Amino acid sequence: MPDTITITDDRTGKTVTVPITDGVFPASAVRELDPSLYIYDPAYMQTAACKSAITFLDGDAGILRYRGYPIEQLAEHSTYLEVAYLLLNGELPDAQQLETWTDDVVHHTFIHENMRKRFVDGFHYDAHPMGMLVSSMAALGTFYNDAKDIHDKATRDKQILRLIAKMPTLAAMCYRFSVGLPFVYPNNDLSFPANFLNMMWKIGDYDLDPRLERAMDVLFILHADHEQNCGTTAMRVVGSSHADPYSSAAAAAAALYGPLHGGANEAVVRMLSDIGHIDNVPAFIEEVKGGKGGRLMGFGHRVYKNYDPRATIIKQTAYEVFEVTGKNPLLDIALKLEEVALSDPYFADRKLYPNVDFYSGLIYQALGFPVAMFTVLFAIPRSVGWLAHWQELIGDKEQKISRPRQWYSGSEARDYVPLSSR
Ligand code: CMC
Repeated sequence: MPDTITITDDRTGKTVTVPITDGVFPASAVRELDPSLYIYDPAYMQTAACKSAITFLDGDAGILRYRGYPIEQLAEHSTYLEVAYLLLNGELPDAQQLETWTDDVVHHTFIHENMRKRFVDGFHYDAHPMGMLVSSMAALGTFYNDAKDIHDKATRDKQILRLIAKMPTLAAMCYRFSVGLPFVYPNNDLSFPANFLNMMWKIGDYDLDPRLERAMDVLFILHADHEQNCGTTAMRVVGSSHADPYSSAAAAAAALYGPLHGGANEAVVRMLSDIGHIDNVPAFIEEVKGGKGGRLMGFGHRVYKNYDPRATIIKQTAYEVFEVTGKNPLLDIALKLEEVALSDPYFADRKLYPNVDFYSGLIYQALGFPVAMFTVLFAIPRSVGWLAHWQELIGDKEQKISRPRQWYSGSEARDYVPLSSR
């Protein structure tokens, strides 16, 4: 069987045959048939907008790999900073490279004092930390005028390093402001996750259990990239106009903020709290199926039509965290929800399984994070994915400024009607 596709325009009888490679054929085939013919594909359901060598995802089989390495192996053996290096550079670092990279990140964790004293202090006392983070990321770029020089590799690398290193500092700063606590400066003697947790929680002495430090790192690894999701697409779309990486990453973070994307972990915990007791689970599931209870948050995925492999690891990590912190009382409701949903034809037929957000919120809550911080915790490691994709985009000769077309459905041409005649 030939690996080609032949498309015939029945209006003209014109035919074009193009190769199918890895299940993809070029849309230029349609342009060849008729330059004014477009494919209508809302939400890009059937569109591959770029070539990418960063993350592989097979939603039917429940497979996720970063640069070819299975997520399960990375979560077990690696660290977030090592994974960050891998995503950005394509290969795992050797010992020397890892030491240099870690040292570089650790020495870029501080932010300009004006960010904290002037910028963040301007927020209202009850500002959502994710709203603060999105704007802080964009504001950070104004401190680095070289950020606009996106065509120079050394300058790009510097911004990537800065943003990755400063994300935990910005995140902790937003939290401390929202609860009125004094800012804790980065401690460069600590590991990446320990430094973040220290900036979050330190009041007097702060002793971190190494199991919680590791759990934070695993959560960072699991959230580091997920190919062309809504946030990463926002990064690529904004980056394609050659905006600086801080502005592009702020756009990506804004996309992540939404409850259908990174905001789902927050929505899951609210949903579990509203359900309140395992006895209420069956009734809640019936409401969801009847379209009354909203969606079952933390379930379903555009790509995974199987158990999200990240959810499996997170569920296991949750038990490890609960050994230290005690069980999150919402866990029983979550387990019951999963059990009822997985045995219900409504969810089975639609291939709706737990996604990354179903259990992550329970761990975050057990670690002491307020619900409003959950998406911020997602954004910290995802900054690596955004930047890896941005870097790939800038180096991709086939890319241009993103500019989809539309299917116009408005009025025909008509004459302006003066106000007095309307
Ligand atoms: N609960 C109940 N029904 C659902 C759910 C859900 N969570 N998700 C999808 N469906 C139903 C939906 O109503 C539709 O049914 P029908 O065919 O009868 O109209 C069918 O399943 C297909 O849904 P869809 O909206 O066409 O699927 P999608 O690929 O556009 O949406 C999704 C994917 C993640 C937005 C969606 O599953 C959802 O809203 N899930 C809940 C929110 C959530 O957990 N989001 C986190 C996603 S993973 C992390 C991330 O990407 O950031």
